[in-house]
Amino acid sequence: MSDPVVAVLGGGQLGRMLALAAAPLGVRCRFLDPKADAPARDLGPLVIGALDDADALTSVVDGATVATYEWEGVPASSARLVAGMVPIRPGAKSLEVSQDRKLEKDTFRALDIPTAQFAIVDDRATLDEAVHAIGLPAVLKTRRGGYDGKGQAVLRDDADVDAAWSRLGDQPLLLEQWIAFERELSVIATRDADGHVVAWPLVENVHENGTLRTSRAPATATGDVTTAAHDSVRKLLDQLDHVGTLALELFDTGDALLANELAPRVHNTGHWTIEGAVTSQFENHIRAVLGLPLGETTPVGHCAMVNFLGGLPDPADVMRLPRSHFHDYRKSPAPGRKVGHATLVADDPDALETPLSELLALAHAASASLETP
Ligand SMILES: Nc1ncnc2c1ncn2[C@@H]1O[C@H](COP(=O)(O)OP(=O)(O)O)[C@@H](O)[C@H]1O
Ligand SMILES: [Mg+2]
Repeated sequence: MSDPVVAVLGGGQLGRMLALAAAPLGVRCRFLDPKADAPARDLGPLVIGALDDADALTSVVDGATVATYEWEGVPASSARLVAGMVPIRPGAKSLEVSQDRKLEKDTFRALDIPTAQFAIVDDRATLDEAVHAIGLPAVLKTRRGGYDGKGQAVLRDDADVDAAWSRLGDQPLLLEQWIAFERELSVIATRDADGHVVAWPLVENVHENGTLRTSRAPATATGDVTTAAHDSVRKLLDQLDHVGTLALELFDTGDALLANELAPRVHNTGHWTIEGAVTSQFENHIRAVLGLPLGETTPVGHCAMVNFLGGLPDPADVMRLPRSHFHDYRKSPAPGRKVGHATLVADDPDALETPLSELLALAHAASASLETP
């Protein structure tokens, strides 16, 4: 293989981190993104265009070894168009399933992966039926297009039903049982073209207003819980014939592990693997799509990752923390926007507590400075 080039559909921070992992392997990335200031712009050539623009798609994959995507919103039709020009890994199927919460849930069920009860909502009458069948509290979610808690409404009582319907009722929806989980977990794995799968240890995640704030890894979990999560992600990877990295978000209720949603790409809850594992989720994704052997996923310590939402703290304040790693996505600040993250590594979990609380305080202060008074 000479001078491999990976064409990445999407040029966000995930694309940026893919390129950072690809560079030492002698692999170059190029990107397609609608925005001229896409975060990946510093790391490789950027084609500016819509992700469904045939000319732009043709231009970004021209001469590339392989294509991949860093955003699950890439239209499946674009993936099929690209597949006629260069191999695309993962393929259109992984996009289709993850883009529609109903298909996603049906896939979980078909594979015997436990998931919250749900009902499809097509109109006001089916919403009332769904509320009756599932009970309250429940979460009304758009079937398509939701991210970072957007496109969702929590229904606690009947008054919430009307309000949620007037806000979300103009699109296909799904009503989901409210899960009073003890904690949220995720599992990330990479599958190569021969079907070999490697998985990282479980990650424990804390969200603020539907957006990820903190991940800790490895999560404390019994062998049974870890095995169940790894079995679920392996079944999904095989079912989708997925080549590359994939993430599965889980609710841990204490009694059961319920699948929440999947992302057919590198994932925010796997950023800790850059400094915290022998091989990162990004490097294994690049290796998988190019047909290279996958690397070990063993953690090198106990890790905490904190997202910078809205604005960045002073980098020096973060770098002063022991074994800290600062990541700036080069995005302009905006309330709630993921503009960077930092990872802390320690030899034992207790040693993480003090630097983690300091890091969270810095992150919260940077977010608060963005809130409009
Ligand atoms: N059924 C549910 N019960 C309890 N909390 C939920 C439920 N569904 C979603 N949430 C909360 O909202 C967050 C975002 O929901 P999710 O379905 O993952 O959508 P997305 O990440 O695409 O915005 C979850 O991580 C979880 O904290
Ligand atoms: Mg989610």
